[in-house]
Amino acid sequence: MERKKQVALDSLGGWKRTHSCGQLSLQEDGQEVCLMGWVQFRRDHGGLIFIDLRDREGLTQVVFAPEVNQEALERAHVLRSEDVIAIKGLVRPRPKDMINPKLKTGEIEVVVKEFKILNAAKTPPFLIEDRAEVSENLRLKYRYLDLRRPFMTQNLVLRSKAAQSVRNYLSGLGFLELETPVLTKSTPEGARDFLVPSRLNPGNFYALPQSPQLFKQLFMVAGFDRYYQIVKCFRDEDLRADRQPEFTQIDIEMSFVEEEDVMTMAEGLIAALFKDVLGLEVKTPFPRMTFAQAIADYGLDKPDVRFDLLLKDVTSIVKNSEFKLFSSAELVKALNLPGGSTLSRKEIDDLTEFVKIYGAKGLAWIKIKEKEWQSPIAKFLSAEEKQGLTQALGLKPGDIVFFQAGPKEVVNTALGYLRLKLGEMFKLIPENTYAFTWVVDFPLLEWDEEEKRWVARHHPFTSPKVEDLALLETNPEKALARAYDLVLNGHEIGGGSIRIHTSEMQQKMFQVLGIEPEEAQEKFGFLLEALKYGTPPHGGIAFGFDRIIMLMTGAKSIRDVIAFPKTQKATCLLTDAPSEVSSRQLRELHLRLRERKEE
Ligand code: AMO
Ligand code: AMP
Repeated sequence: MERKKQVALDSLGGWKRTHSCGQLSLQEDGQEVCLMGWVQFRRDHGGLIFIDLRDREGLTQVVFAPEVNQEALERAHVLRSEDVIAIKGLVRPRPKDMINPKLKTGEIEVVVKEFKILNAAKTPPFLIEDRAEVSENLRLKYRYLDLRRPFMTQNLVLRSKAAQSVRNYLSGLGFLELETPVLTKSTPEGARDFLVPSRLNPGNFYALPQSPQLFKQLFMVAGFDRYYQIVKCFRDEDLRADRQPEFTQIDIEMSFVEEEDVMTMAEGLIAALFKDVLGLEVKTPFPRMTFAQAIADYGLDKPDVRFDLLLKDVTSIVKNSEFKLFSSAELVKALNLPGGSTLSRKEIDDLTEFVKIYGAKGLAWIKIKEKEWQSPIAKFLSAEEKQGLTQALGLKPGDIVFFQAGPKEVVNTALGYLRLKLGEMFKLIPENTYAFTWVVDFPLLEWDEEEKRWVARHHPFTSPKVEDLALLETNPEKALARAYDLVLNGHEIGGGSIRIHTSEMQQKMFQVLGIEPEEAQEKFGFLLEALKYGTPPHGGIAFGFDRIIMLMTGAKSIRDVIAFPKTQKATCLLTDAPSEVSSRQLRELHLRLRERKEE
């Protein structure tokens, strides 16, 4: 039988809470208080019952004592973890040996005069405490219980404070909080769209916004001048620890501005946020690095600048090598890890498997010993090449050097992630530091090998640098964008740009991207038209709110700062979404499912 049926429940009956469970201290000694919350633990102790009573603010020790209320003491025996109770009692100091300095309320306890059992709980599938080791699947299925665990509660409390701080800062600067539609037309942000079939328009679909990009630009056309929104965005892409299919942006747009204006506003926002929420002074302005520099030194466009260990281009040193892998490669880069020659064969094999995730074919390495170079490839290198590498990389006994040879993109990405991995393994990354970097001077375009056309690196509404306009005709790959990304500890936490604000330029851009005028008209006709009615120069930025909160809380995954996140397979284990729908629903939407092939 359910416990609820065995335990007689009481109604609130007009009781009102006087304090939270994280509030009382010796200041309230002798006061009568009323607390409500969940039973964390019940301990029976020499004729007394102790309960840790929990709510989102903390824990308070509650005592049932025979001299105060014998009847209540007897009834308290039925209490189990997670039952919901209300107590009225007196605050008193704890005996010296029971003081808990780790707890905010650790100096007091409340001795119960009266109590009510408001609800009984089934035994939860895991303990409601931070230490409990629980599989993520179980946590997600019982998310409401997982959220009761103090670290999860605190993550969401911090998230709420952060949202408040953002609103205060932006509204203080005259930004208006305006909403944009969720059922809309797709804006290309580089991911796949989530589509919603329209019942009233057979065969037609809405796309959920990958971002409110075009609407925020239309707000600028409409003269709103300064817009922001804390807004859900939807992208059907492969998930990672810092990616979710629906995530939240702090989305911002401003009129009559240039790069510096947006970046200064953004720095102020981040500084206010870290001050309000963590009490930390963040130094502004943030350092800047060009995209080219980031790729050269870090291999990635989101450099983690908390530690050195930079990549070195050694292509010219080995360009005539007997080692064909090196001499025939478009790019050869090396990463020297001082003291790294302690790595075992097994560890090196694991690192080789690791770089393969990023498209690498292998991982060449050399351990620098006192007398010799220990390596499967050392025999292919001439004395001159060894000399060149020693100099360029500052090699010393005890070091290990890793090499990547091949197409630029793979070499940089693989070594870039290897650098992060080694930084972690060798504890090169200082804890509790926040290292912000702007990455600027992004290329405007990127060649899409599959589609054989140029695509916008940021999005097609980003303005090219004025001085690079001519390059669009001659060397499109060289044209730079008026775009900027904000990187924190190796995560891209925000990105934005100055936009194209004339219809002619926007049309030209579509042309460069190989979008035919008819297609441009069909997809973006409304924008091209709007740009003709007096559009101010404008630009903006969007921050990944979940990522910022992840970094502020020290969470390992954005799932730990999102109340109800999706799994890696984009499912919700709590509600079982996505799920099948009835044939009637499909019929109404004018949809028929293709029969699934037998597997
Ligand atoms: P962008 O695509 O760079 O820019 O997105 C802005 C920021 O949103 C975060 N982000 C994500 N966070 C979690 N899960 C995801 N799947 C995910 N995708 C992106 C990142 C990123 O920096 N409209 C433009 C902004 C602009 O130009 O103003 C845009 O959406 O932190
Ligand atoms: P192989 O000649 O294929 O036996 O490779 C010799 C060494 O080079 C091995 O340690 C491989 O892991 C490594 N290797 C293979 N391909 C690459 C590459 N593209 N870049 C760097 N190292 C590689």
